Amino acid sequence: MATDAPEIRVRNLSKSFGANEVLKGVDVTLQAGRVNFVIGRSGGGKSVLLKHLTGLIAPDYGEIWYGNREISQGASKGLTELRRKMGLLFQEGALFDSLTVSENVAFPVWYHRTMRPAAAGKRVRALLSELGMEGRESARVSELSGGERKRVALARALIMEPKVLFFDEPTTGLDPILSTQVDSLILDTRDRTGATCVVVSHDIAAVLSIADQVSLIHEGRVILTGTPRDFRESRIPAVREFISGG
Ligand SMILES: Nc1ncnc2c1ncn2[C@@H]1O[C@H](COP(=O)(O)OP(=O)(O)OP(=O)(O)O)[C@@H](O)[C@H]1O
Ligand SMILES: [Mg+2]
Repeated sequence: MATDAPEIRVRNLSKSFGANEVLKGVDVTLQAGRVNFVIGRSGGGKSVLLKHLTGLIAPDYGEIWYGNREISQGASKGLTELRRKMGLLFQEGALFDSLTVSENVAFPVWYHRTMRPAAAGKRVRALLSELGMEGRESARVSELSGGERKRVALARALIMEPKVLFFDEPTTGLDPILSTQVDSLILDTRDRTGATCVVVSHDIAAVLSIADQVSLIHEGRVILTGTPRDFRESRIPAVREFISGG
């Protein structure tokens, strides 16, 4: 598969908010064109890590590399261009409440002017239908349930066929059937577009079934990166506790 999806390397990434040292030297390499899960306790810094990876916040120390490009320290010039190739699914959804479902999903296309309106409309409808949102195109976001919002946010993250995709808790709040559909959609997207996918999740079953690579953040550092099998077989107490749902 021809793809220019980047590998993402994080080196010694450190970030404090006041006295709260959240990231204390995170080292991790997220594989190009793969589904990379990041797991860890609530409040452990997963969303903060994602915000660094997307350039939304700058680190106190450390480096983030997309392929051979560093994006972390004031290198914001290339960031806008890079963002165009990123799809983001925020934990809170971050939809525009006053716009319709279709308008939300089409927003990145409209903003970046990358597709003709007819083609964009077709793609919006196809994505929404894949996510079980057929017939809901004209609904306002304010009328939707939590699970429906999640699906709209997911469709919006996928619309630009990005080279890097970030999902912060894509299945939280969805029922088991929808969660499984979202998991398949992530895998389909990887296979179809070759995008580098970074998924933050508390859903251990999903982690162990669909991840190509898993990284565990514990006490401000990544203490293990490996395959689901490495995680199942690990004897590190913090890993065991996490895998067994502790
Ligand atoms: N903008 C901010 N200002 C101050 N503190 C922050 C900010 N963003 C995050 N934090 C703190 O950083 C820590 C890690 O937060 P983060 O949102 O990354 O956790 P998380 O691992 O994503 O948790 P969850 O699984 O509950 O989503 C928390 O203590 C949080 O209060
Ligand atoms: Mg979070």
